[in-house]
Amino acid sequence: MSRKLAPSILSADFAQLAEEVERVADVADLLHVDVMDGHFVPNLTIGPPVVSSLRARTGLYLDCHLMVDNPGVLLGDFAKAGANGCTVHVELGDPRPHFETMRDLGLRVGLTHNPETPLAAVLPYLEEIDLLLFMSVHPGFGGQEFIPSVLDKLAEARRIVDERGLPVELEIDGGINTETAASAAGAGADILVAGSAVFHADDPAKAARAIREAAWGNGS
Ligand code: DX5
Ligand code: ZN
Repeated sequence: MSRKLAPSILSADFAQLAEEVERVADVADLLHVDVMDGHFVPNLTIGPPVVSSLRARTGLYLDCHLMVDNPGVLLGDFAKAGANGCTVHVELGDPRPHFETMRDLGLRVGLTHNPETPLAAVLPYLEEIDLLLFMSVHPGFGGQEFIPSVLDKLAEARRIVDERGLPVELEIDGGINTETAASAAGAGADILVAGSAVFHADDPAKAARAIREAAWGNGS
């Protein structure tokens, strides 16, 4: 199991994104990039040009969470822009064509599912992905409250992944802060995504360290 923290830039100040990323660079393992199209979710954010600008300013792993109706048309542009991995939603239908495109492009393959989507919807793909993301809020906005029922799905996936010895990382996204981090880590998350709890803090690096410590204890 890994112990990784992925600050989500959704809650950063987009007018000074490079500086915001620099603030958390020492404590972040990945940078979580929320891509929203105004259709799949009722919010509109950023796309490949911003990823490309970020790539020029950071060596951090760029973990792109695609909340869009048609990820297939964007994957090539994300790869070209310097994304390391992309994650698609299972709610869109058969994700396999996207997996194939991602592999061909050299992207790490992520799959995600909404809080109300059963774990059974993603289990058939476990052997084909690098990352399984658990949404612990309804996708679309930062700053929402953590949905604790997701922890049962996460714990079940942890058990299955370990039992089968699969190299799949389990990531959780939404409402992660110093209060919720311990239960997410306890249920078996490898990667914690945190947006508002990091970037809305006066000292984002300190806030990120506090989340790590709440999750995995001192020295994590
Ligand atoms: C929500 C996004 C999250 C968001 C999390 O749709 O997928 O990545 O940034 O924000 P917080 O940590 O504030 O819940
Ligand atoms: Zn996200």
